Amino acid sequence: MHIHVLGAAAGGGFPQWNCNCPNCDGLRKGTIKASKRTQSSICVSGDGVNWVLFNTSPDILQQIQDFAPLQPGRSVRDTGIVGIFLIDAQIDHTTGLLMLREGKVKREIYCTDMVYEDLTTGNPLLNILGNYCGINRHVVPIDGKTSFEIPGATNLKFTAVALKSAAPPYSPHRNNPHPGDTVGVLIEDTNTGKKCWYSPGLGEIEPHLPPFLEQADCIMVDGTFWTNTEMKDMGLMEKTARDIGHLPQSGEGGMIEALSSYNKARKILIHINNTNPILREDSAERAELSRHGIEVAYDGMDIIL
Ligand code: MLT
Ligand code: MN
Ligand code: ZN
Repeated sequence: MHIHVLGAAAGGGFPQWNCNCPNCDGLRKGTIKASKRTQSSICVSGDGVNWVLFNTSPDILQQIQDFAPLQPGRSVRDTGIVGIFLIDAQIDHTTGLLMLREGKVKREIYCTDMVYEDLTTGNPLLNILGNYCGINRHVVPIDGKTSFEIPGATNLKFTAVALKSAAPPYSPHRNNPHPGDTVGVLIEDTNTGKKCWYSPGLGEIEPHLPPFLEQADCIMVDGTFWTNTEMKDMGLMEKTARDIGHLPQSGEGGMIEALSSYNKARKILIHINNTNPILREDSAERAELSRHGIEVAYDGMDIIL
């Protein structure tokens, strides 16, 4: 299985257009050791030719330009993307769909009922696409037991599971969380038996998750914030990391501690907010991750399992 990181940043990207936090300001001025990152997305292939796109960020056009296999050029209109899997209905994971509107072949969209509802009501991207390429929508089961395949995605099998989180601000059920607002997914290569767990939004290690994490050869999880009060401390937001469904890395019960039980797997943080000190390659926080064998995803990162 080939996993390619298209975008490793959380919503807003790094640097964020209107942000002057020490990271964003330092990156613009070239005074910190860090590299820019686009918004949250990966693509995965079992044969190196056919790819499943996980999320479609507002930066998708640049991400496709930067990764040639997604544009194989076999005919006058072509793509290496055989299916699009949406893990939630958030802006940073979905609005790039509008940039993929061209062509006569329908986009194959895999999402839960909750994500489908949000994307046909509060943020009706999928209705809008109906006026362009059109879509075929496929239901992602969230019982954690029903695996499914995506036609064209050679050797790949997917098992999704509901994660506790909040629906986006434009969701009709914003204040009433439902299973399926966000999912994590185990991606298996049926040829090699290798497995990758992917959950860029993860607020809590719920009791149903360890059996999935134990199986994984690679764990790619929520790397949004270092502390629970990171945004609050900078005066940027009142809510905590946990309030908005992101488990912070540091401290008791944080992601570093949570990942310490899974030593067979390569551990990679993804969906990193621009305020997070782990973006600075020479920071103490980054060194602490390294000591725990945890990597930080970057745009263009390739993982071969
Ligand atoms: C999140 O991950 O919490 C959301 O995507 C935030 C956002 O982009 O507005
Ligand atoms: Mn996000
Ligand atoms: Zn910033």
